[in-house]
Amino acid sequence: MRRFTQEACQPRRLIFLLLLLVFAGCGDDDDSNPVAVNEDLREKLNLQPLPPVMYPPDNEPRQERISLGKLLFFDPIISGEKNIACGTCHHPNFAFADRRQFSAGVSGEGLGPDRVLTNATISLEPRNSPTILNAAMNLDESGLVTHEGFQFLDGRVRGLEEQASRPITSRVEMRGDGFGGATDRAVIVDSVLARLREVPEYLERFKAAFPVEAVEVEDGERASIIDSSTYARAIACYERELVTRNSAYDRYVSGDDNALNATELHGLELFFGKAKCGVCHAGPMFSDYRFIVQGVPQEGGGKDIMPGDDTGREEHTLDTRDRYAFRTLTLRNVELTPPYMHDGCFETLEEVVRFYNVGSFPRHPAVTNDLLDPDLRDPLGLDDEEVDAVVAFMKTLTDMGTGLDPYLLQVPKQVPSGLTPVFGLNDGGSGKGR
Ligand code: HEC
Ligand code: HEC
Repeated sequence: MRRFTQEACQPRRLIFLLLLLVFAGCGDDDDSNPVAVNEDLREKLNLQPLPPVMYPPDNEPRQERISLGKLLFFDPIISGEKNIACGTCHHPNFAFADRRQFSAGVSGEGLGPDRVLTNATISLEPRNSPTILNAAMNLDESGLVTHEGFQFLDGRVRGLEEQASRPITSRVEMRGDGFGGATDRAVIVDSVLARLREVPEYLERFKAAFPVEAVEVEDGERASIIDSSTYARAIACYERELVTRNSAYDRYVSGDDNALNATELHGLELFFGKAKCGVCHAGPMFSDYRFIVQGVPQEGGGKDIMPGDDTGREEHTLDTRDRYAFRTLTLRNVELTPPYMHDGCFETLEEVVRFYNVGSFPRHPAVTNDLLDPDLRDPLGLDDEEVDAVVAFMKTLTDMGTGLDPYLLQVPKQVPSGLTPVFGLNDGGSGKGR
């Protein structure tokens, strides 16, 4: 197992510095040049590529399972009113998010920013939809690469398999209570599975995707090939393919000296230096997966514990010490997924950097300086040019899957239920937004 770290690689760095001194005469420090000639930030900051994906022992990737997972991801049959799919809020045109402040779930029409709710009794999601790209690489508190990393902004679920059954049981997301008003999670999941079992193509595809389980069904050891485990594993198997490793930053890390320009390199240095972003946005995922109180203003309907407010990790742990703590978000593809933060309260990356630059303002009124994470209390003193450089650097983390099989990023033309894949739009995989 490997750990995402940011420690400098000392001995090689020393040799490198000595060489630099030899070539630079007496080592006259030139502070006016943001990136010293030939200085290798890869070594200085120990920049690492994304490690390989980890798979659960019972969910190794296989083509039949990936394609089945993709069909389920875009098939509205799994929502209560058969009118919304995972892909509605995690759409390839919007880097597998939806470019909205708050997702509009069931009883909505249209896609992405144009989606409107048509049923006044159902409200918007209380949180901003995160990208599914690289969610397979999410870590847990150990910091080790795992297949059971935190999912959701409060980390209430671990691993993509466990996550996959959550949206269908949620009222605002997929009208999970649309099955005769059922509220029990298991009952709702069973209703979705029963629907899938009535579609012959799904039966065939599940058999092909899970050959071992298919034999167990024949032998009478298993009730059906379509159960909560095979359903969840298929969706997770698809999502684990959506790992993007070909951003300009990745090309720089793997040795391409021309991948980043001078401003972007300057931004990279600031990011891990003066701007202190790397304290939390560390490692190849640009997140340490800790839960941090950073106190952005509350917008939207809020969650359960306090009316109109979202108390973050406390919503899951019920521990007041976790109040207003949210998971550090990855910055990979952040350029493509505005607006920002758990409640989408900032529209641009520049606004985000300015928030940190002044010591976290504007601030949630209940988050006093004592509650705020210590690393966020002091102004950073970045000037306008430095703010721009940090933003420019974040944009080098963009890669909508240029190294992936394009098939993975295309909305299927048809789904086995015969419904329109991803409500309101059937772009047949135009690949827009890549
Ligand atoms: C109505 C919009 C909507 C639908 C439909 C939806 N999601 Fe989400 N998804 C969200 C929002 C909002 C969050 C963040 C919620 C939170 O953190 O509490 C989220 C979070 C996630 C995450 C966690 C990502 C991370 O890094 O934490 C995954 C994975 C995910 N969704 C997959 C799915 C799958 C699979 C489906 C279909 C079975 C689905 N979603 C359906 C809106 C939606
Ligand atoms: C003390 C830890 C910490 C530091 C330091 C920090 N961040 Fe964050 N960052 C977070 C957390 C936690 C979130 C999610 C908070 C939320 O959603 O309420 C976040 C969210 C973000 C987001 C929004 C991502 C999205 O998809 O919505 C951006 C962009 C971002 N940070 C950039 C930066 C930059 C640039 C810096 C340095 C100037 C920085 N952060 C410093 C912890 C930190």
